[in-house]
Parts: sequence; C-alpha cells; structure tokens
Amino acid sequence: MVVFVCFWFGRLWLGLDLTCYRVLLFIKCFALCLGLSAWVPFAKNASKGCTACLAWLVLGKGYLLIFLKLTVVSVLDVFEAVKTRRSIRSYQDKPVEEEKLQNILEAGRLSPSAVNFQPCSVIVVKDPLVKERLSEAYSKAWFVKAPVIIVVCAAPDKAWRRSDGEEFWKVDAAIALQSMVLAATAEGLGTCWICAFDEQKAKEALGIPAFMRVLAMTPLGYGAEVKGQVTERKPLTEVVHRDRW
Ligand SMILES: Cc1cc2nc3c(=O)[nH]c(=O)nc-3n(C[C@H](O)[C@H](O)[C@H](O)COP(=O)(O)O)c2cc1C
Repeated sequence: MVVFVCFWFGRLWLGLDLTCYRVLLFIKCFALCLGLSAWVPFAKNASKGCTACLAWLVLGKGYLLIFLKLTVVSVLDVFEAVKTRRSIRSYQDKPVEEEKLQNILEAGRLSPSAVNFQPCSVIVVKDPLVKERLSEAYSKAWFVKAPVIIVVCAAPDKAWRRSDGEEFWKVDAAIALQSMVLAATAEGLGTCWICAFDEQKAKEALGIPAFMRVLAMTPLGYGAEVKGQVTERKPLTEVVHRDRW
C-alpha cells in the first residue's frame, strides 16, 4: 500500500510516465522489502527499486530520481533484451495491448537507415482472414496463431546504394525489425524472425505493390513457451578479431 501511494504521488509529482510494467517492478521491490526475494525475478533490479522506495521516504525527490533512473533504465536495458530475446514459436491467444504495439512500431520508426533514406514500411496484420491468406506464404500453424504479425518491407529504389552497386535496403529493413524485436522483448512479448516464406504469396496476400520487397516478418504476442537466455553462440574469441583479421 505504502509503495502504491509513494508510486502514484511520485508519478504526479515528477511527471514521469511510468507504465504498468514499471508498477509491477515496484510491487516486486516491495515484495523484496518483505523478504520475498526468492520468488521475485529481476532481484538485482528489485533491490534497487526497493532502495528507491526507501530513498523516497527518507531523502526525497533528488534521490528518488537517481534511483528510479538506475532501476528503470536497468530493467529496460538493451543488453538485457539482447540476452533474453529468443525465437518464440508458440503463442497465447491473449491480445497485444495497443500501447505496447505502438512502442514497438515506434522503435522501428526510429531505427537508422543508410543516408537516412528511410525506405522501410511495416504492415501490422491482425485480421484473422488476412492472416489466413498470409499463411499461404508461410504455413506453420504457430505463425498465424500469434495475435499480431508484423511484416517489414522496403523500397529498393528509395534506399541507398553504394558506388559499387551494393544495395542496403535489406540492412535498413533488418535494423528496423531487430529494433522492434528488442522493443517487444522489453515489453514482455515474444517474436520470431521469419524469412523462409514465399515473398510473392506474401505480397499477394497483403496487396503489397510490385516495387516493394518483403524482407521478413515476425509473429508478435505473449509466448506460450518459456525459453532461457541465449546460449548457443560462438564464443567472442572465435568471432572477434582485434586490430586485424
Ligand atoms: C534472418 C533470420 C531469418 C530467420 N528465419 C526463420 C524462419 O523462417 N523460420 C523460423 O522458424 N525461424 C527463423 N529464424 C530464427 C532462427 O532460427 C533463430 O533466431 C536461431 O535459431 C537462434 O535462436 P534464438 O532466436 O532463439 O536465439 C530466423 C532468424 C533470422 C535472424
């Protein structure tokens, strides 16, 4: 109760737009306070949050801001999302909240592109009939079971080309999709890069004009499977060269 009051007063007072996700964090912090840390995920962050609550009570606004920053930023840390993102191939029926979808799309919109030409477009598919048609391009049952499918397209003619003719629309589109994938992870949502689809059928299903290319798609939704952190990767010593090959 105390935490809730602190939180809502803190929010009004500081004008911080903290989402439900962060409210949950505060509940976790309070639970930690009560010695329930064994059941609390993100215990490391929770302890910071707990300190933030106490700091608010004892020391006031300045300290709260510092600790809030430590807490919120670390929970939504990009590296955390990189480590916990996995390809999710099973989804719950639960719909994706519009606010979360907007945040995810915003992450794609803000992504960089070569020379800032911004050749990418995104199609958000929710309509079951459209999903059904899209399944002709990629027929895995779990793919269309996700409540949302995001399709990333790019216009090669509007994208930057290097002087040797190398095209970069794929790079631009890939960056946009990966930004959305990481944003989705931070929102607690599952995704899975899909490229093994029939591009022509996808274009027909979605009425995509001939001049556009479809790079990739991802289902988006609450996962019905739990996977651990990313592990099966080559070690840094094998993939990183320093100063020369
Ligand atoms: C460019 C790209 C294309 C992919 N295409 C597919 C696909 O068509 N179908 C699929 O099930 N997974 C696809 N994946 C997912 C990979 O299989 C997966 O990322 C990889 O096995 C590592 O597993 P993780 O994502 O859980 O870490 C693709 C991933 C990437 C990066």
